[in-house]
Amino acid sequence: MQHLRKRILVTGGAGFLGSHLCEALLATGADVICLDNLFCGQKDNIVHLMDNPFFEFIRHDVTFPIYLEVDEIYNLACPASPFHYQHDPVQTLKTSVHGAINMLGLAKRLNAKIFQASTSEVYGDPNIHPQVESYFGNVNPIGVRACYDEGKRAAETLFFDYHRQHDLDIRVARIFNTYGPRMHPNDGRVVSNFIVQALKGQPITVFGDGSQTRSFCYVSDLIAGFQAFMAQDKEIGPMNMGNPNEFTIRELAETVVELTGAKSTLTFKDLPSDDPKQRQPDISKAKAALSWEPKVQLREGLGKTIAYFDDLLSRTDLNRIETPG
Ligand SMILES: NC(=O)c1ccc[n+]([C@@H]2O[C@H](COP(=O)([O-])OP(=O)(O)OC[C@H]3O[C@@H](n4cnc5c(N)ncnc54)[C@H](O)[C@@H]3O)[C@@H](O)[C@H]2O)c1
Repeated sequence: MQHLRKRILVTGGAGFLGSHLCEALLATGADVICLDNLFCGQKDNIVHLMDNPFFEFIRHDVTFPIYLEVDEIYNLACPASPFHYQHDPVQTLKTSVHGAINMLGLAKRLNAKIFQASTSEVYGDPNIHPQVESYFGNVNPIGVRACYDEGKRAAETLFFDYHRQHDLDIRVARIFNTYGPRMHPNDGRVVSNFIVQALKGQPITVFGDGSQTRSFCYVSDLIAGFQAFMAQDKEIGPMNMGNPNEFTIRELAETVVELTGAKSTLTFKDLPSDDPKQRQPDISKAKAALSWEPKVQLREGLGKTIAYFDDLLSRTDLNRIETPG
């Protein structure tokens, strides 16, 4: 059945990335269904879309099957921060595995193209640097991060098996650290944590000595990458997506202090177990296949993110914004 508008399902659509993706898809004229159980996503992230007749929100848990009529699926449902995914590790694993099975089953029935939000965590604590897609990773299967890392690895397996066995049209993106407005203020991710602590004038908590490195991608760059990936038919992935510019955690903390004008000092705590020491994407595959690369540099992206959190803190009960650590 040919519809006037492409009908697109976004699972995890009320989360940080999902809400930006829903917005970007609506801007292309698509009819968007946002599915989320609101475990760590928030209605606040999508409330500005609710009046749009081509936007629909469904409160549903992806670990249970659902029957919808759509042309494309973006599967983003899964808590993404260690603080959230370790809250109920069994549910996290179920979300990745049962969620993938349910969404792949739906895509198979509809013959729909389906995108999986995988992660750089499939590389674990990598032995090679930067990470290329052909690297199989170094993941501890029984550690506290395994519910997320192994869940995402199993989801990738399911995507590729559905592709081989049922000829399903898949796209698998391995997303590296992404930040921007609508990150959850309490989820303990490093960028939001540092910004909230700085804006509240609290000391900034650095885990380890701050010499571990991360690369940070601004959200609009990542979403443009998702759309470019889905729009072409040559590459199904896995495809690294992120910003290869690498910074130490200490540099990040110091930049946040500078840009917020805060007087915060840095305090150092023990590194959590299995925390990777280095993380940097090799994005040559995405550059070649999609002519895509990030454009927004760290200071610019941090500026926009700080402005978002500044506004959020000014209109929220501060007792509800407690950074872990
Ligand atoms: N942001 C990043 O840096 C990053 C990096 C790598 C991978 N990813 C992946 O991208 C996706 C989105 O990440 P995000 O940063 O927006 O995280 P997020 O936590 O803001 O969003 C995840 C959303 O999924 C929803 N969700 C969780 N379990 C669900 C379930 N069982 N059923 C329905 N909805 C459920 C949550 O309520 C939330 O709205 C995740 O799959 C994550 O693993 C993100």
